Amino acid sequence: MRRSTLRQLEVFEAIARLGSFTRAAEELFLTQPTVSMQIKKLADAVGMPLFEQVGKKIYLTGAGRALHAFTRELLDHFARFEMTLADMKGLKRGTLRLAVVTTAEYFAPRLLGPFCLQYPGIDVSLKVSNRERVLERLADNQDDLYVLGQPPEGLDVVATPFLGNPLVVLAPANHPLAGKKKVPLGRLADEPFLMRESGSGTRAAAERLFREHGLEMKVRMELGSNEAIKQAIVGGLGVSVLSRHSLALRAPVGELVILDVVGFPIERQWYVVYPAGKQLSIVARAFLDYLKRAPAFAGIPAAGRKTADAGPGSEAPARPRASERKAQARARAARRATT
Ligand code: PGA
Repeated sequence: MRRSTLRQLEVFEAIARLGSFTRAAEELFLTQPTVSMQIKKLADAVGMPLFEQVGKKIYLTGAGRALHAFTRELLDHFARFEMTLADMKGLKRGTLRLAVVTTAEYFAPRLLGPFCLQYPGIDVSLKVSNRERVLERLADNQDDLYVLGQPPEGLDVVATPFLGNPLVVLAPANHPLAGKKKVPLGRLADEPFLMRESGSGTRAAAERLFREHGLEMKVRMELGSNEAIKQAIVGGLGVSVLSRHSLALRAPVGELVILDVVGFPIERQWYVVYPAGKQLSIVARAFLDYLKRAPAFAGIPAAGRKTADAGPGSEAPARPRASERKAQARARAARRATT
């Protein structure tokens, strides 16, 4: 085992991660026979097979799984060491592996912009999944840092809040509750709801609020993306609870309103999280420091502010003007007439 090389372990890690010899060969710019040869040598050194094939899929054997955990740790140490050397030479170099929940896609890439400009030697790998998937990645220590709408329960982590995340009730502009003040939550429970998939943090927060008031939402449809939900609201299929950040792109223009419902906005925070005891790489530390500096948020929609009005281009507009409402009603009537 000691004679196996770092290259063999890299090849092994790529196959285990990608589930394919061909894709690993492509990623590492090697031929497939070279990849197979490296794995054969590694398996000989271990003295046990590392993969097994069932149908067209390959799976790690028990020995393979143990070696995979060891390899990831080893490659992690190695990457950290390379970053330390680069730092000693006065350079910030390396890869920042970031996993963020779906809704953070509205601001995380914008946050990364100035950071990458400041540190051109840093590559970023950004994974976007729902809360449940991000928590799995965290438990498995797959990334450097995680962005979540709430720190996980039952996992020992360091969590730092860095930005507000209000959840608001969205409805189509012509909704009967649009423009009404202090709508009781019970009234909202009568509305058909469009909800994110189970496993979504947004959904969990909305369900919690209703549960706390002894109410239940009538879920009419589950959709796996914030954008799809916004379109379905405009299509008149129901109302929803989404992060105000999901309005960052200001679409669909003029066709969505935020309802004034008692208990809303649900004031949440975005947290940057990592497992307690994890040795952060220099690059991850640089990103954490950057997040703590307020100017980094220039250009991020001011969803965290408590006031209803953020800067232009960052909000769903309030109820549209009468002329716009008439135009929208005409457009809807025309759409109905053609279907
Ligand atoms: P989600 O998470 O995108 O999975 O809904 C957002 C959150 O936790 O606030």
